[in-house]
Amino acid sequence: MAYKILVLKGDGIGPEVLGEALQALKVVARGSALDLEFKEALAGGASLDAHGTPLRDDVLKAAQDSDAVLLGAVGGPKWDNPNSDKRPEQAILALRKTLGLYANMRPVKTVKELIPSSPLRPEIISGVDLVVVRELTGGLYYGQPSEKRMGAHGREAVDTCFYTEEEIKRVLRFAFELARNRRKRLTSVDKANILATSRLWREIAGELSAEYKDVAVENVLVDSMAMHLLRRPRDFDVIVTENMFGDILTDEASMLAGSMGLLPSASLGDELNSAGYRIGLYEPIHGTAPDIAGQDRANPLAAILSAAMLLEHSLGLTTEAELIVHAVEAVIREGYRTPDLPAAGAKLVGCKAMGRLVRERIENQEPGA
Ligand code: IPM
Ligand code: MG
Repeated sequence: MAYKILVLKGDGIGPEVLGEALQALKVVARGSALDLEFKEALAGGASLDAHGTPLRDDVLKAAQDSDAVLLGAVGGPKWDNPNSDKRPEQAILALRKTLGLYANMRPVKTVKELIPSSPLRPEIISGVDLVVVRELTGGLYYGQPSEKRMGAHGREAVDTCFYTEEEIKRVLRFAFELARNRRKRLTSVDKANILATSRLWREIAGELSAEYKDVAVENVLVDSMAMHLLRRPRDFDVIVTENMFGDILTDEASMLAGSMGLLPSASLGDELNSAGYRIGLYEPIHGTAPDIAGQDRANPLAAILSAAMLLEHSLGLTTEAELIVHAVEAVIREGYRTPDLPAAGAKLVGCKAMGRLVRERIENQEPGA
């Protein structure tokens, strides 16, 4: 039986990096006699231009009918009009919400060879191996009201941070389970000294910790977390936090790995697919990088690693996922770099060449080796 994968390349460098990720998946599928059925559709600015909406209903439906979704990135200056009620980013928000993808996993691991490419000191970042679990379907991103309006004293605007007990519980549970299977340390990040939602978050984290006695939990305020991530990143194992804090902290955390162009992500919910695993949305954490779009300069590794996460988490194909991860590591070890990772003596390559190198390394590995 074929697994159905919906491919949404999006805008900017999205189509370039996702093209390479797709080809990597095809090479793995061929080598492992795996039946993957890809369906491509428009999302974000590309869909706005073609259809006047960031995501058509039939595309959303196709996502629900798929085993997993692979997404590039959406958005760009062309669609940045703040007064427009239709924005490319709404495509991602609709996908996350409709598919119920409340847990966004963003792993950050330093690779020895890339340490010189990070602006941070080697003694701080070597050995970093953490995962941020970002709550993805609640908080300020979805709370109502959210609008600009006329008030008694002129223009005013409001956004709402809202969380139910159940929304907090399920993402914390996800993070506790993950920590249990890793180094058993969980850092829950909030702003409990100011926000009511954070106080509820902290309360529930405390209640759940009774069920996960093997996991050591610490609560850290988000401002202080922003500092600790740079000062002692090695100390962290699993970090769990609400939507907006997670958005900000993961951009910061990406610098520990050297570049945003390296970080994949998986967004998961509770719904199972035809493979019996969680339906997921897989995307690099970087944006559309309009300044370098169409120039063959983008780093496809985050997109390629997102494809590896798809194999692992939505299809349960750990060995095949490792083929991709090992190929990426090999290419980095051999000194190949895209322009986002400047390094003395690096072999500078473009997006396409990087994708091709990874495919060659996949093909040269023995499955399961
Ligand atoms: C991310 C991005 C998105 C977010 C945007 C593009 C909607 O920044 O995935 O981190 O804010 O969640
Ligand atoms: Mg972000």
